[in-house]
Amino acid sequence: MSAPKILATGRCLPSRVVTNEELSRQVDTSDQWVFSRTGIHSRRFCTGESGLDLAAGAARQALDRAGLKPEEVGVCLVATFTPDYASPSMACLLQERLGLKEDTLCFDLNAACAGFLYGLKTAHALLAEAARPYALVVGCEVISRVLDMTDRNTCVLFGDGCGAAVMERDESAVWHTVFGSRGDPASIMVEGPGPVPSAVHMDGKAVFRFAVEVVEASIRQLLEAEGCSIDDLDLVVCHQANARIIDHVARKLKAREGLFYKNMARYGNTSAASIPIALDELVQEGSLSPGMRVLTVGFGGGLTWAGALLRW
Ligand code: UT7
Repeated sequence: MSAPKILATGRCLPSRVVTNEELSRQVDTSDQWVFSRTGIHSRRFCTGESGLDLAAGAARQALDRAGLKPEEVGVCLVATFTPDYASPSMACLLQERLGLKEDTLCFDLNAACAGFLYGLKTAHALLAEAARPYALVVGCEVISRVLDMTDRNTCVLFGDGCGAAVMERDESAVWHTVFGSRGDPASIMVEGPGPVPSAVHMDGKAVFRFAVEVVEASIRQLLEAEGCSIDDLDLVVCHQANARIIDHVARKLKAREGLFYKNMARYGNTSAASIPIALDELVQEGSLSPGMRVLTVGFGGGLTWAGALLRW
C-alpha cells in the first residue's frame, strides 16, 4: 500500500488559553468534572484572530516546510463548519491572502470533525486533473463563535485552531480509506447561517455511542483491507473529542499503551482541525517519520465518519 504523499504539515492556534478553571467561573462546572469526563484541561479561543488568520498561518508553515511557493499549489480545500463567512469561502479568502494562482481549485467542505480526511480524499482525486501537482488541505475551526457560553454541556468541550497539510499528486497511490454518513440532526446540530445566534446542541451520550461504534469498525475495516494487525501500526490518530472514546476503542482493540495519540488536554475538541494539528505536533516532536504506518479516524456532526491508513 502506498498512500498519497503528505509532504509537510503546519498548525496555528489562537494565543488565548482558556482553562477549565476559568470556565468554572462562568458556568457550574469544575476542572475535575471536565478532565475526568473528557481528558480536557484547557482550549484556545480566538480573540483578535479570524479563522483566516489561523488558516493562513498554518498553510504558510506547511508550504514553507514543503519548500513550495503559493503559486505551485493547484488545489486548496478548507474543511470547516465555522467559516468566517457563509461566502466567500475560507478557501477563496486563502487564495487571496496567500497569493495562490487564480486557476487553483478553491472551495470549503463541511464534514464536521471528519472534514480533514474528507479533504485529503477529495484533494487526492482532484490532483489527478489539477493545473499543478500540489494540494493544500486545511482543517480550520473557530467554534467559540457558535458556543452557548451558558450551556455547560457543550461550552467546556470545544476549542479553536487550525492544521494544514501539503499533499503531492501521486496517481499510482493506493490507500485504504473508509467514509460514512448517517443524517441525524438530533445528535449534533448547529443552526445557521442566518440571523439567529447559532449554538452547538449535542446529545453527548448518543454521540459517544456512535463514536465508539464507528471508530472501532473503521479501524477494523482498514486493518483488514491492509492485511495487518493493530500491532503493525506505528500510530493511531483519532479525532480528539474525548479521551474516554479513544481509551474505550484502544481497549476493545487490545492496542499497546501509547499507540493512540491524545492531545485534547491542551486544545479540547477542535473538530476538523484536530487531526492535522495532532499530525503536525507528532511530526515536529519527531514521533512521526517517513515510512511509518499511521491510521487516522475522524467522526462527528452529520453524522459523519472517515478513516485512512497512511504510509507517512
Ligand atoms: O466532535 C463531535 C463529537 N462529539 C463527541 O464525541 C462527544 C461525545 N460525548 C461525550 O464526550 C460525553 O457524552 C460528554 C463529555 C459530552 C458528556 O459526558 P457524559 O459522561 O456522557 O455526561 P452526561 O452528559 O451524562 O452528564 C452527566 C452529568 C449530568 O448531571 P445529572 O443529570 O447526572 O445530574 C450533567 O448535567 O454531568 C452533568 N454535566 C456537567 N457537570 C459539570 C454535564 N456537563 C457538565 C459540566 N460540568 N460541564
